[in-house]
Amino acid sequence: MAANPQRDFPEAYELCKKFDISDANMEEIVQRLTKEIKMGLAKDTHPRAVVKCFITYVQDLPTGKERGKYLALDLGGTNFRVLLVTLRSETEIDIESKSYVISHTLMEGPGKNLFDFIAECLSSFCKDYHIEKENLPLGFTFSFPLKQVGINKGIMITWTKGFKCDGVVGKNVVELLQDAINRRGDLKVRIVAILNDTTGTLMSCAFGNRNCRIGLIVGTGSNACYVEKTSNTEMLEGYQTSNKPNMIVNCELGAFGDNGVLDFIRTPYDNAVDKQSINPKRQTLEKCISGMYLGELVRHVVVELMGKGLLFKGLDSQAIHEKWRFQTSYISDIESDPEGSYRQAAMIMDQMGIRTHVEKDLACLRYICQTVSTRSAKLTSCVLACLIQKMNTKDCSVGIDGGVYRYHPHYHNLLVENMNKLLKGSAKFELIVSEDGSGRGAALIAAVSV
Ligand code: BGC
Repeated sequence: MAANPQRDFPEAYELCKKFDISDANMEEIVQRLTKEIKMGLAKDTHPRAVVKCFITYVQDLPTGKERGKYLALDLGGTNFRVLLVTLRSETEIDIESKSYVISHTLMEGPGKNLFDFIAECLSSFCKDYHIEKENLPLGFTFSFPLKQVGINKGIMITWTKGFKCDGVVGKNVVELLQDAINRRGDLKVRIVAILNDTTGTLMSCAFGNRNCRIGLIVGTGSNACYVEKTSNTEMLEGYQTSNKPNMIVNCELGAFGDNGVLDFIRTPYDNAVDKQSINPKRQTLEKCISGMYLGELVRHVVVELMGKGLLFKGLDSQAIHEKWRFQTSYISDIESDPEGSYRQAAMIMDQMGIRTHVEKDLACLRYICQTVSTRSAKLTSCVLACLIQKMNTKDCSVGIDGGVYRYHPHYHNLLVENMNKLLKGSAKFELIVSEDGSGRGAALIAAVSV
């Protein structure tokens, strides 16, 4: 039977209230974010803005007529991918790709090793397809905060998502990659563009859907980009006289709140997760939204309730006390069970060394998962409503990618419900899963920029 949290586990219910965001608070968040975005866009406030709103130099959306053969690299999480994308027609796109695991040692080691590894994978991929001498155009999806100073030049600002490689911050990442390729001397490619995964996602979606104006990622990390009027992108030299009306802006929204403006909705659990992260006091919004952190938030709540004897009484395990052990995918699994069923919850707790079939406890666990994922979706809705209002569009599509959005059973519906609350019918929107933004999108950007 479906649980009644207030009656069945009142203490946990009270604790979970800390994660609730009221409608009024959601509206407040939209307003605060709008202000931060304006600060990021304007030249005089940009240097101290936390939401940087980097210009991407991508000013053309795809027309659907792009054709040709492109290489793409995708670095942004624990997997690194090399892709060969052939745009044959609007509907026919061939993608060959290979994934490589980025080890912990590489993620936290010297940047030179990371770029040598990337070049090595690229070289072996190209040799497999006999294209190492073709000098193909390459789009590099690099999904970290990057201050772009040209379509194929970007200065690394800071690492996120568990990466921390020395010798990269402050450098032009394209040059680091080119140097690593040159050191090998066995490969000819042209790095024509560097982009963020959100930009790739927007472009990939826009290829088939001309009304796409926002690219959103809710995966390991989270972020969004949108189409801004060039006349508002003051960080572009000649922004007032540019003959291209639009510019994709990579907001780097994960950092929203780093100056304290989200403290009014943060909980003690957010603080705990932040403290133990590799980048404390950074990426405040991302830590409330994205896949790298949601599972850990749930684990903290569970451990606190267990410590008070209010959950899984008499049971304990080493695993539940291990940091980062409770994965965000568990949240999606647990919430995928039909209402009132706790099969996945029991299985997952079993894997965590806590063997129980006490329904009330499993229902409580599910409630905690729902609380954390609902807050994530509410915050993401604030982001989308804010961008839609900022663009002043009456009708647009949003291209979305990332594991949280893709695999959580209710995330999409939660977004629609909360966006409707915020937009109050002022704009129509469509949320669309964007296929392979980091690969297909990178190829499209390479195509529009050569
Ligand atoms: C990065 C963004 C990226 C997002 C999603 C964040 O941690 O800073 O650049 O778009 O993750 O991958």
